[in-house]
Amino acid sequence: MKKMKTAIIAVIAAGVLTACGSNNEGTKDSGSGKTENALEKIQEKGTLMVGTSADFAPFEFKTLVDGKDTIVGSDIEMVKAIGDKLGVKVEFMDMQFDAVLVALQQNKVDIAVSGISATAERKESFDFSTPYYNPPQKIVINKKNQATYTSIESLNGKKVGAQKGSIQEGVVETQLPDAQKVSIPRVPNLIVELNQGSIDALVLEETIAESYINQNPDLMFADIELTSNEDEAFAIALPKGEDELKEEIDKIIAEMTKDGSIDKYVKEAMELADKNTEE
Ligand code: ARG
Repeated sequence: MKKMKTAIIAVIAAGVLTACGSNNEGTKDSGSGKTENALEKIQEKGTLMVGTSADFAPFEFKTLVDGKDTIVGSDIEMVKAIGDKLGVKVEFMDMQFDAVLVALQQNKVDIAVSGISATAERKESFDFSTPYYNPPQKIVINKKNQATYTSIESLNGKKVGAQKGSIQEGVVETQLPDAQKVSIPRVPNLIVELNQGSIDALVLEETIAESYINQNPDLMFADIELTSNEDEAFAIALPKGEDELKEEIDKIIAEMTKDGSIDKYVKEAMELADKNTEE
């Protein structure tokens, strides 16, 4: 009797399984339009395509590695670690900073990693990972002008540089409203202009400013306070609504923040950028 019951249950169970199976097939056949999410797509093609602007030491910059021009930096190491955890290769597409978010918008890249501040305005068009770094805004000047540029007002009418497409343009506009804003596409060019004196000052985030000051001994931080907003922290820009991708990346960033990896990447990249100029 007991045996019989078991047999009947087994038959019923098999029936249920079959029903499920055919049901599933039904969905597939009808092509119900269940498309893959971005994370699945990335894992399927086996490559994470990353948009960046490699002009921003120590986060992303170029250096010779074994005689070859290579993109390096803490953002680069961070993304490589993310690629490893997702089990995919990472490829970088280098472009001007003001093109990075456009490339993401146009799906030319899967994510954008470029010391990008997750501002409220950008959040209207993109999702962002949890922030991973938050340096304050700083003014950089020539050492010889140390005694001249001592306050916001001392820069009135002066040329203050900012990278084109960066939030530093907004910092100049709102916090140095009487200065003359000069927008320049690449950070190293901003530095050249400042060294030459064709601009009087520039705005950069502290860690980046520190790296370029290390590489350019005639430059220094101005002793002028700027206000930094809390929505300026760096985060990875993601396509909107790709929650699975965001969740996965957030998890990895949380680990890398907690175990000190991100700070380590920044420190190492800073040393690498400094070494660059010594050679
Ligand atoms: N954090 C600033 C912004 O998001 C500047 C980023 C510039 N990044 C770069 N790789 N040049 O606007």
